[in-house]
Amino acid sequence: MIKKNTLSSTNYAVEDDLIVPEASDQFVVTSYVKEIMDRALVYLKVGYPVHFAGPSGTGKTTLAFHLATQWGRPVTLLQGNEEFVSSDLTGKDIGYRKSSVVDNYIHSVLKTEEQMSRTWVDNRLTTACRNGDLLIYDEFNRSKAETNNVLLSVLSEGILNLPGLRGAGEGYLDVHPNFRAIFTSNPEEYAGTHKTQDALMDRMITINVGHPDRDTELKIVHARSELDLQEAAYIVDIVNELRGNDIQTKHGLRAGIAIARILSLQGLKPRMGDKLFHNICYDVLSMETAKIQRAGQSVFHEMIDDVIRQICPPIGAAVSAKKFPTKIKVAE
Ligand SMILES: Nc1ncnc2c1ncn2[C@@H]1O[C@H](COP(=O)(O)OP(=O)(O)OP(=O)(O)O)[C@@H](O)[C@H]1O
Ligand SMILES: [Mg+2]
Repeated sequence: MIKKNTLSSTNYAVEDDLIVPEASDQFVVTSYVKEIMDRALVYLKVGYPVHFAGPSGTGKTTLAFHLATQWGRPVTLLQGNEEFVSSDLTGKDIGYRKSSVVDNYIHSVLKTEEQMSRTWVDNRLTTACRNGDLLIYDEFNRSKAETNNVLLSVLSEGILNLPGLRGAGEGYLDVHPNFRAIFTSNPEEYAGTHKTQDALMDRMITINVGHPDRDTELKIVHARSELDLQEAAYIVDIVNELRGNDIQTKHGLRAGIAIARILSLQGLKPRMGDKLFHNICYDVLSMETAKIQRAGQSVFHEMIDDVIRQICPPIGAAVSAKKFPTKIKVAE
């Protein structure tokens, strides 16, 4: 079954525990995106794990899923988690299974035989290594460094160490030659992330993903909201202006997409003086500094009003790209 998520630009089908990603028409490919994709695909083909690193909302997870559609093999998804221990990646014994045979063939002789066997259940990393799937380990640095240690020998020697299966003679698993991995991570200074050990970083090729260029951001906001290109450009300009501001807002792509989707759904346009539009911007772009007040007025609201005044046409104005040009070129 294909799941189409209106909040995401990736479609996927779920079969058992595997994800089969499908290319989505909402995925935007610009030269910026294509360059990253092409490089990443080459690294995977050569056999290297790819790591998209960068701030929140820059498109890392979307890139990982899109890369997976190009790779064309089933995907196993892992989400980094502070609570994980390595058995959450590899698997564990879930107890003993007792089986007994009662042989009552000759009625005067009763023979019983009991056997205890340990029951092991593979977790996702082990399944991916066995089957040669593509592992996407999203936000892997949310798991503790020692949890991820098990990946060291997987990525360099092609061996997965499974101490829990030592008794069964399967203490080591040869990683399938088709196995590949894509990692994503947020910077270390983000709350809830851990420093990644250098040894692991050394085994993958890291592509640093920053905020995409304006053209890419505009196309993404437009595609994800269905707001007119010209109107979407005003919003991208607002978010960009704030990003360049001293107070350093950390908004990624999501803020612009959210404002554009809300406007599009409500049939609104980004206009200076439209109270609802200003309020939507305060809410979506809100951050810590929004609490600071001067003479009973939020300094943050004043700043947003100022940016809207510089960028958006006033309410009621007849708008054309020539009369109210955006910083991003929009074809009329
Ligand atoms: N190329 C693209 N085409 C269409 N939409 C995109 C593209 N890249 C990113 N997006 C959209 O931008 C938003 C943020 O992207 P994504 O979730 O991939 O960022 P991220 O870097 O993984 O963020 P985080 O670090 O917070 O997990 C999502 O709504 C996603 O659908
Ligand atoms: Mg992500």
